[in-house]
Amino acid sequence: MRPLLELKGITFSYPGGEPVLKGIDFQLDFGEKAGLWGCNGAGKTTLFHVIMGLERPSAGEILFEGRPVTGRKDLTALRRKVGFLFQDADDQLFCPTLLEDVAFGPLNLGLSPDEARSKAIATLDLLDMANLADRPPYSLSGGQKKLGALATILAMDPIALILDEPTGGLDEDARAILEQLLIATDAALLVASHDKDFIEKVTSKGYLLSGGRLFNLPRDDRQALPKEA
Ligand SMILES: Nc1ncnc2c1ncn2[C@@H]1O[C@H](COP(=O)(O)OP(=O)(O)OP(=O)(O)O)[C@@H](O)[C@H]1O
Ligand SMILES: [Mg+2]
Repeated sequence: MRPLLELKGITFSYPGGEPVLKGIDFQLDFGEKAGLWGCNGAGKTTLFHVIMGLERPSAGEILFEGRPVTGRKDLTALRRKVGFLFQDADDQLFCPTLLEDVAFGPLNLGLSPDEARSKAIATLDLLDMANLADRPPYSLSGGQKKLGALATILAMDPIALILDEPTGGLDEDARAILEQLLIATDAALLVASHDKDFIEKVTSKGYLLSGGRLFNLPRDDRQALPKEA
């Protein structure tokens, strides 16, 4: 079966800089759950931004559901189906209230305002944060913002989740909710995290990004990772 997401020879540099990604090949199957390790500055966020079309690679190809992502239409289709959690939740929340932020995606997908509101409340409830629905996002704590940002993507029923450091700032209860949710979901998952226990629990496959290249990480080798990786 064709993979859900495929990267072929992806190369990327920021203007005037050395290449951050050097010919990355990667596949994510439908429902597959993969973890991404790498030191600070290894290029994990950059790789996610390239996948989501926020940065344009200088070489290589991205295929989504078997089709090359070339134009705006392909990118819109990908973004409707792939939920991306930014490393910084402030990049994801921009409405006057959390409820409006979470309802924004479902509204864009064509739900009526009432349906979108119900969907948003149900999603916030799933994360045990319905009580925060009417709060302005800027007034939320760091962990609450993170979960709120996660709610904005879950509300769109994505078939894949790309999560950039989702556990940052989460307390034990919030982390447990997130773990259960990621273990239970049928959506494919690609998650970057420095939190080894978390990645072990929610993924079945691992990759290491180092020196601009992506390496398979057999499960047994993960224990041997340096602490900062
Ligand atoms: N907008 C930018 N302009 C120039 N260089 C950048 C930009 N964003 C990131 N970089 C550089 O690209 C490299 C990869 O950064 P990136 O944020 O992708 O790393 P990361 O693996 O996500 O790190 P972390 O674990 O700290 O989140 C770093 O050397 C970083 O300094
Ligand atoms: Mg990062």
